[in-house]
Amino acid sequence: MLGAWVQTEYYAALHHSQLCSETLTMPTIAIVSQKGGSGKTTLAVNLAACAAYAKKQVVIIDTDPQATAAAWGDWRGDFLPVVVTSPPARLAKTIETAKSNGMDLAVIDTPPHAEAAMREAIKAADLVLIPSRPRAFDLHALEAIADLVIDSGTPAYVVLNAVPARASKQIAEATESCEALGLKVCPVTFGERADFHRSSAKGEVASEIDPEGKASGEVARLWKWTRKQLGIPAKG
Ligand SMILES: Nc1ncnc2c1ncn2[C@@H]1O[C@H](COP(=O)(O)OP(=O)(O)OP(=O)(O)O)[C@@H](O)[C@H]1O
Ligand SMILES: [Mg+2]
Repeated sequence: MLGAWVQTEYYAALHHSQLCSETLTMPTIAIVSQKGGSGKTTLAVNLAACAAYAKKQVVIIDTDPQATAAAWGDWRGDFLPVVVTSPPARLAKTIETAKSNGMDLAVIDTPPHAEAAMREAIKAADLVLIPSRPRAFDLHALEAIADLVIDSGTPAYVVLNAVPARASKQIAEATESCEALGLKVCPVTFGERADFHRSSAKGEVASEIDPEGKASGEVARLWKWTRKQLGIPAKG
């Protein structure tokens, strides 16, 4: 069973960590946005599961009191990735523990309308992803984040999410709005796809309900892009 596997790996890693915890690295991605429902949890679980399928030891750290990612992990049962909850004030400690347990990658999911939680996640991250629907009100909400991420100096990208079909003009306009705020836009976007909401309601991810679907392809492209940003090798 996967639970036993996780446990075995956990203890092997723990032993390893006692030997060389200072030398371990664990790239960390923060997924943030002030706006509720922008797609933070969807992005977190799909990206993390894709990394797990690529044989990375990945942990989702859910800092949202709504604990949506943690509930998704409960529905999922014994399948990777590991999901842990952490109050924002304990985030640094949770990351340290994950690192010393041999995790290769951490993905932090954050709550909406919670500047302190967002700050902690950005502080801990090597890469910040900001999902936003390409609509005026959503893009307007990015103003609050722009200064935070720019001041942090951590690489940060807006990921346009739930983009309607044939919306190249909308993508171009959204990109312009982001760039006007000093934010970069990720070259990979997610379309408005039923596979995303249908899968998460069952504790799954898009690639598990439709491996050949467009949503699955978008997640794979985002993982490849993210991996390169963080210098994570494809294998090993
Ligand atoms: N690309 C997409 N296509 C279709 N539905 C999507 C997409 N992205 C997200 N959704 C749906 O939108 C809703 C909100 O998404 P999600 O929970 O990921 O947002 P969130 O930013 O984590 O919300 P909150 O701020 O409340 O934590 C969910 O029902 C999800 O399934
Ligand atoms: Mg969420």
